[in-house]
Amino acid sequence: MKSGVVLISGRGSNLKAILTARLDLDIRCVISNRPEAKGLDIAFSHQIPTRVVNHQAYPDRQHFDRALAETIDQFTPDYIILAGFLRIFTDTFVLHYNNRMINIHPSLLPAFTGLNTHARALAAGVKVHGCTVHFVTPTLDVGPIIIQAAVPVFQNDTEQSLAQRVLEQEHLIYPKALSWLIHDQIEIKHESVHLKTPFSSAPALISPWN
Ligand code: GRF
Repeated sequence: MKSGVVLISGRGSNLKAILTARLDLDIRCVISNRPEAKGLDIAFSHQIPTRVVNHQAYPDRQHFDRALAETIDQFTPDYIILAGFLRIFTDTFVLHYNNRMINIHPSLLPAFTGLNTHARALAAGVKVHGCTVHFVTPTLDVGPIIIQAAVPVFQNDTEQSLAQRVLEQEHLIYPKALSWLIHDQIEIKHESVHLKTPFSSAPALISPWN
């Protein structure tokens, strides 16, 4: 069975979706950079070991990343699963987990990298928004895309209503992407993700219009 470590910073609803999906995946630890992260309680209730590596205890990014990597590596995971982990990594850290670290981002990448994606989508007047699961590479939010889900943007949407619509899709696509990964159904070719047969016809875009 493949193994993983999940990194969180807050609420942990994606962590919960991953755990509820009961994947064939041994989640060996949930690590938070914030001691107060609610997601730690979710891990605890599933009897999953937790660790806190508080970024505030380190003088700079390099020291924090080194401590984080040491904590992760104690669990020798196949995959590093970022589920709302709100820190930017050093290149050294990212390359240490090359092709083994994945993230969920609340926009249809490459649109709206970075923070405040829902507010920026509303301000830009886009009619379609969504979320993306992708491999993590040194440049923020641009790694190979595994799966995306699209949602409509309505005229009367607020940041909160749009975020909620997107989040529901996040909870569907993250377990799906992980399932492909752990069952060796995807490969990276020329910096883009391909689904292997017989899964090649599986849609890597989910939308409520389908
Ligand atoms: C999600 O919107 C995710 O896309 C983003 O951070 C948020 C985390 O939410 N990276 P949760 O902690 O999983 O509830």
